[in-house]
Amino acid sequence: MSKDNPGPVLRAEQNDDLSHTKIMLGRLAANWPQRAYVKKGELDPFFEAGEPGEPGKEDFLEKLLPFRDLPQYRSSSPEMKSRVLSCGWLMYNAKTTQIETEIVNPSCLDIIAGVMPGLRTGDAQKAVCETLVDEAYHVHLVEQASRLTRRRRGLEDLRIPRFNLVRHMRERQRTGTEPWHGQTIQFATAVVSEIFISDYLHLLSESEEIQPFNRMTVAAHRHDEMVHSPLFRSMAQLFSHDLTVEQRAAFADVLAEPVVWFADRELDVWLSMLRQIGFPKAEEMIRECRSLGTADLTSLDHSAIVTLAEEIGLLDSAAARDSFTRQGLIA
Ligand SMILES: [Fe+2]
Ligand SMILES: [Fe+2]
Repeated sequence: MSKDNPGPVLRAEQNDDLSHTKIMLGRLAANWPQRAYVKKGELDPFFEAGEPGEPGKEDFLEKLLPFRDLPQYRSSSPEMKSRVLSCGWLMYNAKTTQIETEIVNPSCLDIIAGVMPGLRTGDAQKAVCETLVDEAYHVHLVEQASRLTRRRRGLEDLRIPRFNLVRHMRERQRTGTEPWHGQTIQFATAVVSEIFISDYLHLLSESEEIQPFNRMTVAAHRHDEMVHSPLFRSMAQLFSHDLTVEQRAAFADVLAEPVVWFADRELDVWLSMLRQIGFPKAEEMIRECRSLGTADLTSLDHSAIVTLAEEIGLLDSAAARDSFTRQGLIA
């Protein structure tokens, strides 16, 4: 991106905001050794808490199943319902892993490579290196939890395909003609994911209804993500500030789209898993579910993305406002 960047285009009145942002980024980077979960010792207590599992508790919450009210699910046996909930947990974890490995980490690597404007300072580089360690540790935590569930529930062979969230991002990247287009789309998807993931994890991190090991795994992850959210908001501001007019318009144009991708109900992934566990009438149930909508925007508080876009001045452009309106984020 740097090669084609003729220089920053910024609004003078943003300077004060930026100095505050830089101070906050520096503080977040400096506190990492005290804060990060990866620094907090061994994982054994989690395994002790998780084996052999608490009787009577499921792996996942029924209220998070997209087909929970449909008759095909309601009339299934208790054993099948329990199996579906274990699939829900494995899917939730797999989506988390794909966010880390296919969305956030590649964007962190772009920043470390120095190709992302506004993010070449020492503090930004330090914070991103720390984030990369956090995310690698989260993959370890989440995959460990999934292995335990697969073993306990006899789901070792369950395959989970690629999520629409990642597929939509890749498709959008293919529409770009320059490397910086793809990097900008990757970064926008990472920013949105990092802002939403705390809420996504909060759905389970305090639940007393599910297996305690599952809850603790999600809570440990969320502990770090509570800081990643302000970190990525700060980086979005610094990045946006240093873009050319053309690059800034591209960033503004794409930022609303990952909100809808994140809210996708991932019904193709569900159908694949339901078929694999022999759920009766899986196709019929998912077809009905699809007719109710493939994305559920009401499940996410997207106001944080709109606020971010306003704060960094992206919504000053009519094209960006159009894009946010098209995605249903503003009226
Ligand atoms: Fe993470
Ligand atoms: Fe994160």
